[in-house]
Amino acid sequence: MKVLRSISALRDYRKQLAGSVGLVLTMGFLHEGHLSLVRRSKAECEYTFVSIFVNPTQFGPDEDFGAYPRDTNRDLKLLENTGADAVFLPGAGEMYPPGADTVVVPGKTAHRLEGAARPGHFRGVATVVLKLFNLIQPQRAYFGQKDAQQAAVIRKMVADLDVPVEIAVMPTVREGDGLAMSSRNTYLNPAEREAATVLYRSLKLAEELINGGERDAEIVRQRMTELISAEPLAHIDYVSVADAGSLDELAFVIRPALVSLAVRIGRTRLIDNVTLT
Ligand code: PAJ
Repeated sequence: MKVLRSISALRDYRKQLAGSVGLVLTMGFLHEGHLSLVRRSKAECEYTFVSIFVNPTQFGPDEDFGAYPRDTNRDLKLLENTGADAVFLPGAGEMYPPGADTVVVPGKTAHRLEGAARPGHFRGVATVVLKLFNLIQPQRAYFGQKDAQQAAVIRKMVADLDVPVEIAVMPTVREGDGLAMSSRNTYLNPAEREAATVLYRSLKLAEELINGGERDAEIVRQRMTELISAEPLAHIDYVSVADAGSLDELAFVIRPALVSLAVRIGRTRLIDNVTLT
């Protein structure tokens, strides 16, 4: 596995490759969710690139950029074992040299949900993702459904800016009790880890209600809110039942619907979602 720590090393290596390149973008501290994307890329592309970069521009000033878990040696071992061909590990100074002054500003898809709760977040995401697409020039890039709105923002950017890459979105990988895998789960103490199952339990409740015929989206939001509020360690950022395409909040449930939520468990902010098709 080739480890590339600079843009010039990356460009030299990339030039030599003739076959199809699949790309998995990450902020590291890898888990099975990330590795599922790597495996899919390996199955579909001749070369699989992984980037590890904790992107400062997608964190708000009061967010966890400094605390975000990092363990590059562990990540490299996992990627080696999974069979990635190349890993791009740039430093922040290289991705954002002094004077860098151009950004990608996503439109409406980025305004709701995570975009409303985290101003500037998707601008940082879209900018770094476009830069990494331009550097690595993959034919396909793999994203997780766990970050459903992120995938929607990237799809729209690629369509609107004619970026020559195909976007694949893969299912959310979960722990045995349903908690979506996330690098941030490592922040949770044992009591919080237990409480964090409330996200998946509330999504399951929404699924049951809707599959049972409930069409009033507000009732679904209320029932989820009640369930989460019964968990003392949980504090709701938002609970959403939205059109899966536009991300507009629904009054009546139509499909495909995206049921999503952001909940703080202690100081840790977690997100999750299900799509009902
Ligand atoms: P990160 O949170 O490290 O996630 C990297 C990729 O793994 C994303 O596409 C994300 O949706 C996917 N992923 C995370 N947890 C998953 C799970 N439990 N199941 C399936 N896929 C999962 O998302 C980012 O980093 C950044 O915003 C990035 C795109 C790298 C830009 O900085």
